[in-house]
Amino acid sequence: MSTLNSLILILIFSTIFFLSHSSDLNFTFHGFNDTNLTLQGATVTKPNGALRLTNTSKSVIGHAFYPSPIRIANSSFTTHFVFQINPAAGAGRGGYGLAFTLSPAPAFPGAAAEHFMGVFSESNDGNASNHVLMVEFDTVNGYNEKTDSEGNHVSINVNGMDSKVSKAAAYLPEGSRGKEEEVYLENHGPVQAWIDYHGIGISKRFDVTVAPLGVSKPIRPLMPWDLDDNSDVLLENMYIGFSAATGEKSSSHYILGWSFCLNGIATQLNLSLLPGVEVEKASSSSGGRVRIILIATFSVALFVLVVFLIAMVFYRRVMRFEVLEDWEVDAPHRFRYRELYVATKGFRGSEKIGEGGFGAVYRGVLPTTGGEVAVKKIMANNSLQGMREFAAEIESLGKLRHKNLVNLQGWCKHKNELVIVYDYVPNGSLDSLLYNSSSVLSWEQRFNIIKGVASGLLYLHEEWEQVVIHRDVKSSNVLIDRDMNPRLGDFGLARLYDHGKNSHRTTNVVGTIGYIAPELTRTGQASTSTDVFAYGILLLEVACGRAAVVCEAHRNVILVDWVVECMQMGNMFEAVDGKLNSAYVVEEMELVLGLGLLCSHPKAESRPTMRQVVKYLNGDEILPLFDRLSSAGSRRADEVTARLLELGLSDRIGFTGTTSYYSYYSSSIGAMSTTSFGSGR
Ligand SMILES: *[C@@H]1O[C@H](CO)[C@@H](O)[C@H](O)[C@H]1NC(C)=O
Ligand SMILES: *[C@@H]1O[C@H](CO)[C@@H](O)[C@H](O)[C@H]1NC(C)=O
Ligand SMILES: *[C@@H]1O[C@H](CO)[C@@H](O)[C@H](O)[C@H]1NC(C)=O
Ligand SMILES: *[C@@H]1O[C@H](CO)[C@@H](O)[C@H](O)[C@H]1NC(C)=O
Ligand SMILES: *[C@@H]1O[C@H](CO)[C@@H](O)[C@H](O)[C@H]1NC(C)=O
Ligand SMILES: *[C@@H]1O[C@H](CO)[C@@H](O)[C@H](O)[C@H]1NC(C)=O
Ligand SMILES: *[C@@H]1O[C@H](CO)[C@@H](O)[C@H](O)[C@H]1NC(C)=O
Repeated sequence: MSTLNSLILILIFSTIFFLSHSSDLNFTFHGFNDTNLTLQGATVTKPNGALRLTNTSKSVIGHAFYPSPIRIANSSFTTHFVFQINPAAGAGRGGYGLAFTLSPAPAFPGAAAEHFMGVFSESNDGNASNHVLMVEFDTVNGYNEKTDSEGNHVSINVNGMDSKVSKAAAYLPEGSRGKEEEVYLENHGPVQAWIDYHGIGISKRFDVTVAPLGVSKPIRPLMPWDLDDNSDVLLENMYIGFSAATGEKSSSHYILGWSFCLNGIATQLNLSLLPGVEVEKASSSSGGRVRIILIATFSVALFVLVVFLIAMVFYRRVMRFEVLEDWEVDAPHRFRYRELYVATKGFRGSEKIGEGGFGAVYRGVLPTTGGEVAVKKIMANNSLQGMREFAAEIESLGKLRHKNLVNLQGWCKHKNELVIVYDYVPNGSLDSLLYNSSSVLSWEQRFNIIKGVASGLLYLHEEWEQVVIHRDVKSSNVLIDRDMNPRLGDFGLARLYDHGKNSHRTTNVVGTIGYIAPELTRTGQASTSTDVFAYGILLLEVACGRAAVVCEAHRNVILVDWVVECMQMGNMFEAVDGKLNSAYVVEEMELVLGLGLLCSHPKAESRPTMRQVVKYLNGDEILPLFDRLSSAGSRRADEVTARLLELGLSDRIGFTGTTSYYSYYSSSIGAMSTTSFGSGR
């Protein structure tokens, strides 16, 4: 309300003084003519009428003053003007602002540019005999950080550059409930300013208001300021006008329109009559223009080239990460690291689908083909020789193709990492389906899986051009595809961990506890027969739904021993997975249990070959054990058990006992985890 009151007061006083001083100054400029104002320094009037106080050169000064002084004593005035500040192109913040200035003379000899605004100098800054009052519209932080702290601010300076009052440029939009909006003084087009001086009566007061274009004068002034009653800054007669200066920072400062009324209300400028600000040209000659265009085009081209080169370097160094050795170049199964990196989204944790003994496995989609792959990343810490052998190995393994194998698509070497690319098999591993899954594998599915694994293993052992020993047959290495067919994975990989070592070293035992044939721990020599042993354990796992080694009541129970124990207790079907709910084909179950025990026979000579295993499973041959068994139901279980026990399996029990069988392993192998382990590298 007080603002409104003061406004009404001003109105009343203005009217009184208008009536009594009918000859008071009252002018309105919508654009300027050279003769209208006294121009100094760099100031020019543009052909369209815009008054330019400074251009964007450094350290220039410009003044434009009304040619005659006005009688300020015992007077009030109101003024409205529109200015525009355009910083030098590409310079960010310009400088140093412009000021509505009241001074005893329209000229300032010896004044400095920059923050002295072309009004003061080092020698007279702050001298009370200056009699200068400036309303400053500043775009840089004041030279006096204590007072002019806002970059975009309005302040009132008296006799020097020390601000008496200072405020960030803002206005109160109509109906905004007290929330001010910033007014950008520079680089945001024309800005309106109003200065109302109330110099009649007891207190003298300045009201400074700013607003963007298109807004009528806000009711509340941004910065009301009371001039000290005893201040003698304002003389009886003062010149009024504008000052501006540039420094290291520079701007073009324009005044587009100005109305002023002594002892009355200044005419509100008709904004549509104001001249615009033309786009500044560094040079007016057309030759210079062409040169600028040429330079600009050249710079853009150069920039694009540099960006392209940087991108190329980045692409080679960072994205591809790889420097190929000659032996790598021609390898048909070699992937580019970049491709795998992209496929697995940078080996992101969310893409990880498993963590095996040899490394983490990620799901990936190859960017080139869109095919799903499983990508295994192995920290090899290998020598170059090892890498070379590895590559050769993978190259040959890459040629293996069988429907029950997880086909190896390729490989890649990156620093110390080996990356192996496989077919992606969606349903997870057999062990997770057997032990963790909520859905139960039916016997039909299980028997199909068993036969499939046998078929894949036979292919590795006998049907390919070379004998490939898997070395790590186990349920977690059997993956199940969409049609519930098994795919044996990770074949031959374990051997990679033997490379560079004497192959007869007994310490080079590789495999997974519970699946390691006894002779392997003694000789360290993997063979097709040690694979058969592990396959036998796998058969028992599938039939019994129990892991190869189960920790029960603080002791490790070996699956084979447990099955034999069940047999000795009189009923080997006790060992069958309870989750099957007795829904299985008895003959097939007998066959699987019997074959499992036979394959995992402690004596390698007693184990069948994979070819024989496949024949038994397909029913092409009868397991010798079950030859000439009576076909009548009731006594068969006993008969089968008796036959199996005849195999000498009980030797195993007699040899070490159930728990010590495990300790037999652990003492000969040393500390092992229940996952695959390497050979002490
Ligand atoms: C400005 O100068 C021009 C040319 O001398 C003149 O016609 C015009 O009236 C002047 N304007 C004002 C507001 O004095
Ligand atoms: C700015 O004005 C000064 C003086 O009028 C002149 O010497 C300079 O060339 C001008 N600079 C530009 C960029 O126009
Ligand atoms: C300046 O004054 C001249 C002469 O009176 C006039 O022709 C011209 O249009 C004026 N220019 C502006 C910008 O007012
Ligand atoms: C201003 O007005 C007061 C009272 O009306 C008067 O005493 C004083 O001399 C005036 N000042 C000037 C500079 O005219
Ligand atoms: C202020 O300026 C006046 C006139 O130029 C001069 O005589 C005086 O010495 C200056 N005072 C100071 C403190 O510099
Ligand atoms: C100022 O002049 C304008 C015309 O140029 C006029 O409309 C207005 O009433 C005048 N104002 C005063 C306070 O004399
Ligand atoms: C502003 O000037 C334009 C163009 O001369 C005119 O049409 C309009 O009525 C004026 N507006 C005011 C508020 O005087």
